[in-house]
Amino acid sequence: GGLKVDIALDPLEGTTITAHGGENALSVLAMANKGGFLNAPDIYMQKIAYGKKYQDLEIDPESPADEIVQKFSDHTDMNIKNTVVCILDRPRHQELIYKIRQTGARIKLISDGDVSAVIATSFEDSGVDMYMGIGGSPEGVLAAAALRCIGGKIYSKLVFNDEKEKERASGMGIKDLNKVYTTNDLASGDVMFSATGVTNGTLLQGVLIKNNIATTQSVVMRSKTKTLRYVNASHNLNIKDIVA
Ligand code: FBP
Repeated sequence: GGLKVDIALDPLEGTTITAHGGENALSVLAMANKGGFLNAPDIYMQKIAYGKKYQDLEIDPESPADEIVQKFSDHTDMNIKNTVVCILDRPRHQELIYKIRQTGARIKLISDGDVSAVIATSFEDSGVDMYMGIGGSPEGVLAAAALRCIGGKIYSKLVFNDEKEKERASGMGIKDLNKVYTTNDLASGDVMFSATGVTNGTLLQGVLIKNNIATTQSVVMRSKTKTLRYVNASHNLNIKDIVA
């Protein structure tokens, strides 16, 4: 009889990052009113995102990457040489990287973790201005939920590797397989987003265990008021076990 909600979560966004002791692994959960999140199939999604400071900028997400980066830097009055575009370091992004390098923009390659990378575009000190490239679709929904709370914009489009993936998406209720999804298409209405740092990152401190005390840092945010609440917790592992 309670409120019906949509929940999107990734208990460990950045599995390989965690295994390698790298940066920006998060545990993420977002909530919206029922129907608020795109029911995204577990396939790839093309994403372009930029931060709240520039969210009035409209782009054609289907135009060539170099034109998009040029338009972004013209809009921001930032010298294009100082514009930083974050991209997942994958062979599939070779052409994208080449095109962006041609514009003179700078590139930050990351090994994993595009939820954190999209969020970073809205944090001025992150050193990331834009995020571009292909990553997971569920991660796109989570990132959109965060941007609804902190500001910023994401454009996205599902990427299908074969007919089976198209059938899967259709079976999940996706009617237009070529639709460009905006931030609100991915996460609409009142949205809440929370994340806990697993490893240190741009947004949060990771888990630190010292003298059998684990400290964690989390953030909870909501779209209605755009309030960000940080929670620093200390867990006594003599009393509370870490569940494997
Ligand atoms: P996992 O934690 O599920 O491994 O996801 C990490 C991640 O880097 C996501 O942030 C990103 O969207 C996706 O994987 C990219 O997929 P792939 O590793 O197949 O390129």
